[in-house]
Amino acid sequence: MTTLFQTYKQHPFELIEGTGVTVYDQQANAYLDLTSGIGVCNLGYNHPTLNQAVQAQLGKIWHTSNLYQSSLQEEVATKLVPTPDYAVFFCNSGTEANEAALKLARKASQKTAVLSFTHSFHGRTTGALSVTGNEQIKEGFGPLLEDVVFGVYNDYPSLDLIHDELAAVIVEIIQGEGGVIAGDADWLEALQDTCCEHGVLLIVDEVQTGMGRTGKQYAFEHYALDPDIITVAKGLANGLPIGAMMGKKKLSSAFGPGSHGTTFGGNPLALTAANTVLDILTPTFLEAVVQKSHLFWYYLEKELRDLPGVTAITGKGLMVGIQLEDSIPVQEVIAKLHQKGILTLSAQQNTLRLLPPLVIKGAQLIEAIQHIKEVIVYSTVKTEVSV
Ligand SMILES: Cc1ncc(COP(=O)(O)O)c(C=O)c1O
Repeated sequence: MTTLFQTYKQHPFELIEGTGVTVYDQQANAYLDLTSGIGVCNLGYNHPTLNQAVQAQLGKIWHTSNLYQSSLQEEVATKLVPTPDYAVFFCNSGTEANEAALKLARKASQKTAVLSFTHSFHGRTTGALSVTGNEQIKEGFGPLLEDVVFGVYNDYPSLDLIHDELAAVIVEIIQGEGGVIAGDADWLEALQDTCCEHGVLLIVDEVQTGMGRTGKQYAFEHYALDPDIITVAKGLANGLPIGAMMGKKKLSSAFGPGSHGTTFGGNPLALTAANTVLDILTPTFLEAVVQKSHLFWYYLEKELRDLPGVTAITGKGLMVGIQLEDSIPVQEVIAKLHQKGILTLSAQQNTLRLLPPLVIKGAQLIEAIQHIKEVIVYSTVKTEVSV
């Protein structure tokens, strides 16, 4: 019997400790982590600098409310924005950041309609769920927000759905939950151009792709993009709950006193962790992520690209999807990898998703690929024998 709502299908063990990129269950089994707690613990576990900073803040003050000034919020906001053209609203999660983005876009534009894309994921609150392109997780919760239309990701004819009456378009640079589908550079840039032509705000959801995951602080920085609104969360405080919505300062008048708010958002503990994370994400750190990504992709291509059972390898940087044939259910692969001491994730379209901590070593990535290869080969052989 359980006292919890059974909203998650959970693996049959509990993770109780971690250090670096290794986590341990209650039986002291060690696992190499290729999940980062779903893209959160990008600097790994028990990071000494982060621990020290948060412990020092614990002894000062945990919470003050947003009714008082915060030089810490100012400091983190200044480090977070890609250019000084943006202002920041701090909240507690990716969903909340997207909720704030939708509200800002609607109020600033004085329009309501939003274009999103199939296979997108933007969160589970009513607004964020309304713009999520996954019918299965919406079942039973309708009616949701009106005025939301869905185009097809990476599809040029879908850009015709953009017209003057839209408030905003919301898009991921790489669709994470939807199957680790990378946006095509030309299409993303055409999307932005079309938004500009029609006076439509562009919201880029960097909740999963941001904070160095692809080798740049934000994935949109790989392209000639200049979003009106950007949302982040997950890796920002390496595990303390936080989210942030950055909007162009030209939109600021729509978010004046009383227009939006939160009790916990921007609290000193999470902000201290975020401040330290941002100090660690230097250009040198990001360059190391790029180098590791090159190595990772070299071995992914070499070992897995032509392997029977693998239909595609997708993503960018340290955000990778290994799409499997339907005869090899991804959940079975994940369970077999547990036995080999490796933690991985799934995404839609029978995809094995890898989001390793950014501090992982090249040799650990190569070792993980070997284990993944063994499991896929074993699963393919087993499928052939049972046919
Ligand atoms: C792209 C994207 N947006 C929004 C969210 C929602 O974030 P949270 O779970 O922090 O509310 C997620 C979570 O997976 C995400 O991947």
